[in-house]
Amino acid sequence: KIPVLIDCDPGHDDAVMLLLAFGSGLFDIKAITSSAGNQTQEKTLKNTMRIMELIGADVPVYRGSDKPLFRKLIIADNVHGEMGMDGPVLPEPTLQHHPLSALEAMAQILAESDEKITIVPTGPLTNVATFLLAYPHLKPKIERISLMGGGAFRGNITPTAEFNIYVDPEAAAIVFKSGVPITMCGLDVTHKALVFQEDIERFRAIGNRSGKVVAELMDFFSIYYRRERPELEGGAALHDPCAIAWLIDPSMFTSKPCYVDVEVAGTLTAGTTIVDFFDVLKQTPNVDFVYDIDREKYIQMIYDAVKVLP
Ligand code: BDR
Ligand code: CA
Repeated sequence: KIPVLIDCDPGHDDAVMLLLAFGSGLFDIKAITSSAGNQTQEKTLKNTMRIMELIGADVPVYRGSDKPLFRKLIIADNVHGEMGMDGPVLPEPTLQHHPLSALEAMAQILAESDEKITIVPTGPLTNVATFLLAYPHLKPKIERISLMGGGAFRGNITPTAEFNIYVDPEAAAIVFKSGVPITMCGLDVTHKALVFQEDIERFRAIGNRSGKVVAELMDFFSIYYRRERPELEGGAALHDPCAIAWLIDPSMFTSKPCYVDVEVAGTLTAGTTIVDFFDVLKQTPNVDFVYDIDREKYIQMIYDAVKVLP
């Protein structure tokens, strides 16, 4: 099993990412930390607990930062709704999150681990950057960071910036410059990781409660995509599970080693990942930049995972 630490802001696609991680049975999930992004910290933390309760998972959940390092928090309630995971009726969680902070938990887990751990961030990178700054001596304990964020050739919150990076560009810059190997699943690949209505119906037809929740999450999520992204032809971009799917089967994806930096100051381009796709700068690549996917295999992988869950 692949030891991982997941940092997420559920979030419809974060929720599906968690179900893939658990249902695949291929991960030793050490902890889940919540990031503020799609909604406030309070709400993304609660939503994480809701998913844990849905599948009866017994993994500690830790509360992350409330705000980006230097900026005011921007949320994506236009995509994810008032609760951050609108659509299915999911009760108030009764589970409690762990009293340690995300920062303390990451440090303790990595310090005590004999094996290297992969970090999987699918929200703004505030928690991960804070950890890298506070505990640089633990970097060698990180196998890799497989993240959803950024894009070489498109943005979604500005013409060039992707939401997760845009919310906390300074944190993203710290992560990309950290020297830890990074896999970046940005919009270039996630806008090809589409879920269509017929896929949603397949999830609903599984007949278990996880399948029903996935279908209801995607019903809500698709409303935004059909209205705002008609060029995706009815598909909704199922971003976050890519960061987990790549760890399960990288052969399903196409990628290229690239040098990537983050714009933190630009007046038009703040929060943009600058991906040197054509190696103009002749810098040593710091990122495995993922830009294509076998969509059918991806949806099937998620289907197989959801099927074995409660
Ligand atoms: C990213 O932003 C969030 O809205 C999604 O959960 C995903 O992580 C896509 O830009
Ligand atoms: Ca997310």
